[in-house]
Amino acid sequence: MKNIRAEPIYLSPPHLGGTEADYVGEAFRDNWIAPVGPHIKSFEEEMAAYCGIKRAVALSSGTAAIHLALHVLGIGKGDRVYCSTLTFVASANPILYQQAEPVFIDSDSKTWNMSPEVLERALKFDAARGKLPKACIVVNLYGQSADMKPIIQLCRKYGVYIIEDAAESLGAVYQSSFSGTLGDIGVFSFNGNKIITTSGGGMLVTERTDWADQAVYLATQAKEAAEHYEHTQYGYNYRMSNISAGIGRGQLRVLNRRVNEKRTVYQRYAESGLPFSYMPEASYGKATRWLTAALLPENVLPVPFIQKLRGERIEARRVWKPLHMQPLFKHADSFLHESSIAEKLFHRGICLPSGTAMTASIQQEVISIMEEYFQQSNPQEAVVF
Ligand SMILES: Cc1ncc(COP(=O)(O)O)c(C=O)c1O
Repeated sequence: MKNIRAEPIYLSPPHLGGTEADYVGEAFRDNWIAPVGPHIKSFEEEMAAYCGIKRAVALSSGTAAIHLALHVLGIGKGDRVYCSTLTFVASANPILYQQAEPVFIDSDSKTWNMSPEVLERALKFDAARGKLPKACIVVNLYGQSADMKPIIQLCRKYGVYIIEDAAESLGAVYQSSFSGTLGDIGVFSFNGNKIITTSGGGMLVTERTDWADQAVYLATQAKEAAEHYEHTQYGYNYRMSNISAGIGRGQLRVLNRRVNEKRTVYQRYAESGLPFSYMPEASYGKATRWLTAALLPENVLPVPFIQKLRGERIEARRVWKPLHMQPLFKHADSFLHESSIAEKLFHRGICLPSGTAMTASIQQEVISIMEEYFQQSNPQEAVVF
């Protein structure tokens, strides 16, 4: 196929809504070029209202939000923290920052998210040997919520806090609640590849005013209320800037539109007849399809497939390598299915270009290039677990 495109096709590039520059212009005009200013408060209030939660705290990244969540919940040296294994390393790095002990939990084949069945087994086992975790980081992968009801029931039963890593699932719904609002603390990311972006940033959300206030305090170097600089504990420089918050306010206005566009991108792939087996959408909610993720047919390997697309200046990525397989976590405990689902998803999984500004004709070009590749490799049936 003749390539007439001027630009590469990225996995999930930023997509501005049109009003961001107005908010940023306001910040410039009023000289609020700092990690304080009116956009921060407004962005927090608008996010809290959107999600239907009491408090939202704007931070410099999603990773910072996970770190502060652990800190606020009192997770420290030697505490065990469960975490979904199929995720980006940023979900678990903050466990290490706190010198706590990560423990990884396998995926469920129906949702690709944390398996409630494996979680139950882990909690029973750890309860019996007196090694229960203090918290569980539940990741909502690729725009889909984990099955939170059984997960919450289990964690309540064993007295374990839930941190919902909703970095990838802003705008997704679980039953009648927004993803990210079901745990004790929820976390969003506004990194450049997310469904909405502030160029870089994150948000911590919670119903607990004291936790939100504590997060703000820790994010601003733990300054005590005094006329001089008084500190009783160490803090961090984790606050979002007023300029980033201005971008976020503009982006939030188009979030619902972006969710529909992401779902349309997925729909076009699904209707194309390509021999993929897509990440299933669970009946308990509505996924955003932040990334269209799928499994390749048995005889098509992810690496040559990605390389072929790269040769056409199209970006695709493998599904996350499970954290229990990472050298970084080689000493960590993990609880897996007899044959790990997360490992299978990693070996066969692929994330397809999912930009919301991608037109139908550009996406058709992507699909045609993939069709050509599959014709040459004579694919077998898509993999289904
Ligand atoms: C699942 C998950 N958790 C956490 C993060 C960290 O967010 P940030 O890049 O804003 O630090 C990301 C993305 O970057 C992510 O995909």
